[in-house]
Amino acid sequence: MDKEDINVITKRKEEGIKIPLEKNVQAREGTNYFEYVKLIHNALPELDFNDIDTSTEFLKHKFSVPIMIDSMTGGSDLAFKINENLALAAEELNIPIGVGSQRAGLKSEMLAQTYSIVREKAPSSFIMANIGGAQLAKGFSIEDAKKIIDMVKANALIIHLNPLQELIQPEGDTNFKGVLDKIREFTKALDVPVIVKEVGAGISREVALKLELVGVSALNVSGYGGTSWAGVEQLRAEAANMKEKAELGRLFWDWGIPTAASLLEVVSAVSIPVIASGGIRNGLEIGKSLVLGASFTALAHPFLQAAAESKDAVIKKVKSLTLELKATMFLIGAKDVKRIKEARYVLIGPLREWERSLKGK
Ligand SMILES: Cc1cc2nc3c(=O)[nH]c(=O)nc-3n(C[C@H](O)[C@H](O)[C@H](O)COP(=O)(O)O)c2cc1C
Repeated sequence: MDKEDINVITKRKEEGIKIPLEKNVQAREGTNYFEYVKLIHNALPELDFNDIDTSTEFLKHKFSVPIMIDSMTGGSDLAFKINENLALAAEELNIPIGVGSQRAGLKSEMLAQTYSIVREKAPSSFIMANIGGAQLAKGFSIEDAKKIIDMVKANALIIHLNPLQELIQPEGDTNFKGVLDKIREFTKALDVPVIVKEVGAGISREVALKLELVGVSALNVSGYGGTSWAGVEQLRAEAANMKEKAELGRLFWDWGIPTAASLLEVVSAVSIPVIASGGIRNGLEIGKSLVLGASFTALAHPFLQAAAESKDAVIKKVKSLTLELKATMFLIGAKDVKRIKEARYVLIGPLREWERSLKGK
């Protein structure tokens, strides 16, 4: 690969960090719907707050809290620094960490280091490799998958599905034909579990069922309500003077299944573990995710902001989320993560209607 191609990739990767950091590309018209989940206050928790235990298991590994660093970056100098800070924090806190799409890492050794820094700084952590579904359709092979897994000595491989993003992205790949068959091939051929995620538009019950049937080990709904990739790509398309794409980006900025609704869709359909992500911004929303049946939660944008600052800022963020989760557990009377699922809740407004439509089918 020549230097020019590497420069193009590096520029795209830098924009993929700088736009979410410097511009507001969060959901504009709607929310993640967690405000429509009401947990029932327990006035008699019969618990000592200090005894509350947030540790949990996921894919046969033990973690201190059900919070992971969602897949984000790699492929540039800024990505190297961010990945380093995220990895140091993940190692210190014993939480899982995802890296960003690794296609760039296969192109050059120099770019590979922006991902492998994560394993270097987090030698005992649960690390998740990452590649896009659109790449699978384009011929990304099992050998390639083994290479990106090896690049970070990954404990799992994440395949992200991002048709909305590819549609708006100036250089996007819009052929998603054959992706499910390729995912089936990967789940059979690889030694590590395969996790499938969206990137902010959510997963429906029908899609979740198909993915479980082809052998996927866990799903991350990554629903609507947080970072909008239609938004990021709209700004990039505008800067590149691609008027049609920019117009599409504007129209579909707020497209997607709100995270809480996606969670209801997916947990009602499958028995594999489900990760809630997409606009999760505090420990109360983490608690609500677990009450609705998620096994784990993930955040991207808040950790990006923290990692752009320092490793300590990432640690501080996880600690404050953990305190808020513990407060939620105390107020619903759940001593540990398993007991969170027993808590009663009420769905109101649009989320209740969403649940009704799910039950009606
Ligand atoms: C800077 C940035 C880069 C991202 N890159 C990837 C990626 O390479 N692969 C992926 O699966 N998801 C990627 N995502 C999507 C996130 O993992 C997540 O699904 C989405 O941002 C919603 O979470 P949030 O609202 O907490 O940001 C990225 C998100 C951000 C903010």
